[in-house]
Amino acid sequence: MAFSVQQKSPSYLHIEGNIPLDLPNGSFISITRQTPLKIYSLGFQPAKSIPEIPRWFLQKYGTNKPFIVLEPFAGSGTTLIESLRQQSSVYWLDYHPLSRLICRVKTTKFSPEDLLENTSKIIQSAYHHKNAPETVKFANKDFWFQAAVQEGLEILKAYISQSPEKNQPLLWIAFASTVRKTSNMNDGMLLAARRANFEKIPERSREDVFEYFQGYVNRAIEAVQEWQTVCPDFEKAQEIPSQDARDLAGNWTCDAIVTSPPYINAIDYVWASKFELHWLEMVRDDKARLELYSQEIGTERIPKDQYKKQGKTGNSLLDSLIEDIYTGKKYQASKGQNELRARVVYQYFVDMKTHFLQSSSHLKPGGYYCFSIGDISKICGVEIPVALILKEMAESAGLREIFHFNLLLKNRKLNLPRNVDWAGTIKHDQVIILKKSL
Ligand SMILES: C[S@@+](CC[C@H](N)C(=O)[O-])C[C@H]1O[C@@H](n2cnc3c(N)ncnc32)[C@H](O)[C@@H]1O
Repeated sequence: MAFSVQQKSPSYLHIEGNIPLDLPNGSFISITRQTPLKIYSLGFQPAKSIPEIPRWFLQKYGTNKPFIVLEPFAGSGTTLIESLRQQSSVYWLDYHPLSRLICRVKTTKFSPEDLLENTSKIIQSAYHHKNAPETVKFANKDFWFQAAVQEGLEILKAYISQSPEKNQPLLWIAFASTVRKTSNMNDGMLLAARRANFEKIPERSREDVFEYFQGYVNRAIEAVQEWQTVCPDFEKAQEIPSQDARDLAGNWTCDAIVTSPPYINAIDYVWASKFELHWLEMVRDDKARLELYSQEIGTERIPKDQYKKQGKTGNSLLDSLIEDIYTGKKYQASKGQNELRARVVYQYFVDMKTHFLQSSSHLKPGGYYCFSIGDISKICGVEIPVALILKEMAESAGLREIFHFNLLLKNRKLNLPRNVDWAGTIKHDQVIILKKSL
């Protein structure tokens, strides 16, 4: 089938709300979204997908019940929520501990009354607490957290740890939001980096920290309360033991994989959630945080002796693009950067190929793989048709494309075309459905 990744000015089908099930193959669409459930926005994830895509897939292809979905890059759990809403079972994993916490909260039933009572006890005790311990250490902590804020966070952390186990996941999510909010990052900043145009941050007290925490608990409770009224059965979601999408061990099968894999070179999830990882003690120290980042698909943490070599994947288009980056054909970056970027691209696709092979072995005959990803990433001036190459890799793992469409990327809050300068030229998400032969 002809597969175009670079249409100049496609004509868009404008959709209000849900994607129609009779959408023609190859369409270009833009969506104006209806107000989603609050549960989707609970928890920090810098690359959340929109629920309309897994919803459309499950309504179109997931009608045979029972239907088992795998989400190997669960993130903030968008596919999990959609699967549960449509009464499908869903297995899930993510290598990132904060994502796993968010997904656990979204697939657990909580008692709002219990949580409110628990939180008011925490806040009361915190207000009367005198000396704060110092349990958290990481580089530049004093630059990013004012002294009173550090004390407030330490005190909250101690009381959350003593709370009943069943309430803790939701309290930790509210704590994670409090950490982000009370840091010296400016609102809307994604990565903790010192910048020239840094806005002055107001001085904050311990009490400010407690108030933010209370606010975030209230919002989380509202979200889970609303979610609990529509979710029929939390038991249908199951976290699998593997925490790496390249190594899906176990003796299980599924009817469909519905996911949005990481982009190459776009967002370093570990850097983006550095403060939460340390304050929630999800990593021991700075070294452990960097080691965690090495496990990310798309990581730039590659040893020099590896990136000096120009990798070959066996895919002729990809290998020629890797060579263009390596040799600086379009853009000569600073010393060593072309070699590094070329290796990042190489490693990303090698990892995704391993993932497709693993996934395919767990898919039932006739099962589906649905993924959405930015169509093109620009690296050192070289345009990589990521979606097309991933599709080819999935096909070499025994799957065959049956459908695709293109979604115009927008600022998801404002419904305006998104400013994508940071990521090069990603303009569409491409949604591709593949099927395993019977
Ligand atoms: C594009 S995001 C998924 C977003 C998700 N669909 C949502 O709506 O929140 C990609 C996810 O892949 C995860 N990831 C990266 N490398 C991974 C690996 N080796 N194994 C499993 N998950 C990984 C990241 O932590 C991130 O949550």
